[in-house]
Amino acid sequence: MTTAKQYFCEQRYFCNDVTEALLDKTVEICAWVHRRRDHGGVIFLDMRDRSGLLQVVFNPDQQQSFAIADTVRSEYVLQISGQVRKRPQGMENNELPTGQVELVAENIIILNKAKTPPFQLDDYQSVGEDVRLKYRYIDLRRPEMHHKIALRAKIYRVIRDFLDHQNFLEIETPILLKSTPEGARDYLVPSRVHPGNFFALPQSPQILKQILMISGMERYYQIARCFRDEDLRADRQPEFTQLDMEMSFVKEHDIQDISEALIKQLFKDILQIELPDFPRMTYTEAMQRYGSDKPDLRIPLELIDIADLMRDVEFKVFSSPANDPNSRVVALHLPGGADLTRKEIDAYTQYVSQFGAKGLAYIKVNEPEKGHDGLQSPILKFLTPAAIDGILQRTQAKRGDIIFFGADKKRVVDEALGALRLRLGNDRGLVKAGWQPLWIVDFPMFEEIDGAWCSLHHPFTAPQIEDPKELEVAPDTIKARAYDLVLNGQEIGGGSIRIHTPDIQRAVLHILGEDDKILQEKFGFLLNALEYGCPPHGGIAFGLDRLAMLMTGSQSIREVIAFPKTQRAICPLTEAPGAVSSAQLRELGIKLKERG
Ligand code: AMO
Ligand code: AMP
Repeated sequence: MTTAKQYFCEQRYFCNDVTEALLDKTVEICAWVHRRRDHGGVIFLDMRDRSGLLQVVFNPDQQQSFAIADTVRSEYVLQISGQVRKRPQGMENNELPTGQVELVAENIIILNKAKTPPFQLDDYQSVGEDVRLKYRYIDLRRPEMHHKIALRAKIYRVIRDFLDHQNFLEIETPILLKSTPEGARDYLVPSRVHPGNFFALPQSPQILKQILMISGMERYYQIARCFRDEDLRADRQPEFTQLDMEMSFVKEHDIQDISEALIKQLFKDILQIELPDFPRMTYTEAMQRYGSDKPDLRIPLELIDIADLMRDVEFKVFSSPANDPNSRVVALHLPGGADLTRKEIDAYTQYVSQFGAKGLAYIKVNEPEKGHDGLQSPILKFLTPAAIDGILQRTQAKRGDIIFFGADKKRVVDEALGALRLRLGNDRGLVKAGWQPLWIVDFPMFEEIDGAWCSLHHPFTAPQIEDPKELEVAPDTIKARAYDLVLNGQEIGGGSIRIHTPDIQRAVLHILGEDDKILQEKFGFLLNALEYGCPPHGGIAFGLDRLAMLMTGSQSIREVIAFPKTQRAICPLTEAPGAVSSAQLRELGIKLKERG
């Protein structure tokens, strides 16, 4: 802890600050009973506050306080004063900063009692996450959670200092707003004053930060809450926090450079880690080599294209996609993988089937000196000797290795083999220690989903070409001025240079299928604003929950959010979302349909 003494009481200390420096001093603590032990007529209380633990001793000769201490249980809240003394020899605890001393209690006040908690703090794993979240106040008392929440607070402090020095203005944008499309569903809020009309909670402050650039604010940031009604995973919450930034008169490199400096500063100040420079990789290369636009470069496995070798083989499963420009045939070479059992390979086959893969062919290189007879594979008989040689040559597979194959539409192969790459990397202990930051650049502007064009980033991202007429000719070939920041396989940030002229903005929205009327209704205010002197501008937003998750070594962003929602998008503590009264609904002019 940084401040030893607290404001309101001269003698009050955080537990962790009671060390040898205070020997023989009288101090007071206010803390929770972490553990109680009775030993040879003496009561020991391990007291806990947000700073750490302190051992307190009650001797029977202090009759009154001893009698009170005798009644306390786990999680009681106590105010205790006494004298700091050195622990008897042999009783020290070198694991604790306070482990050389103990507080000999003189006075004790029970500030509050506690029921037996639903789980012991060091036994939280035995209860499900629902129970932890229902009793989040107890879960959050765990030192590990304190550490995570405190580290998150430090992230905010470093960010604010850094951006303040760089002349950024912290500006709040509204939560009650119009839809801000980022590809998810909106959370809607009905308006009582305008029945039948709704606000949408912002999926991000995207449009408003652009309007702030038009307003001449030049450098904006906000630690902004965003709301997206989408399917949840370990790295997604329906409400989450972004560090949102926007700058005028900048190009991609300016934003990337300042972002890189900020992330390096965070790691240096908080974790004392010097990050390497952030390399750049194009989207096309990332998809080709890793099947993912957020590759985890700590895993030394790659997808290797072999379609050219498979065009003429008899095996239709390979030759058809090999001759289709929208498909891929790839090999994934796992050194040392020939020891995988049939059962393990079946499990991996099952795993890739979740991503639509129809199978998982493989070749084991058992005894290479025997030529093709030394290989083991269900597909060998369908391949020509030249094709087999080509595979071995291209993958450089050696004795004891295995090569997996994926052949299908590009999307299926990328997803299935990209996921298999991660899974194998983890299962086989191939994930290298350390930090691997990476910029992904040159994203496509659009992707086709069910026959319609959609933005890969969002509709305000500038294309790499400047002529609006060219846009409509072949949308699939156009690259965006967009970039993502990836860290250890997590997308921690994304941004772009924005469209700053109304004609290009209109052309892009047209490609996305917005007709003029809807376009005017939804984005008229933006298109108008672009007419009044909009500077060229761009920005980025970082997922602070994901960053905090990585920096604390957590498995889920729920671990670094004080009150997260569950995977089912509910809050077990407050039991939200909940029903509302019919009076409230009436006021809002809302009538619920009977559920079928
Ligand atoms: P994007 O949608 O890529 O960009 O979001 C930016 C970053 O926010 C984090 N993130 C999430 N974190 C937790 N739960 C979620 N549901 C969630 N969704 C996104 C990710 C992501 O990289 N307006 C643009 C930014 C810009 O162009 O400046 C935007 O929101 O870490
Ligand atoms: P089959 O001819 O369907 O028995 O498949 C022979 C082998 O090819 C099996 O090991 C399958 O798992 C594998 N396989 C089938 N379809 C694919 C595919 N699309 N990509 C990769 N391997 C496949």
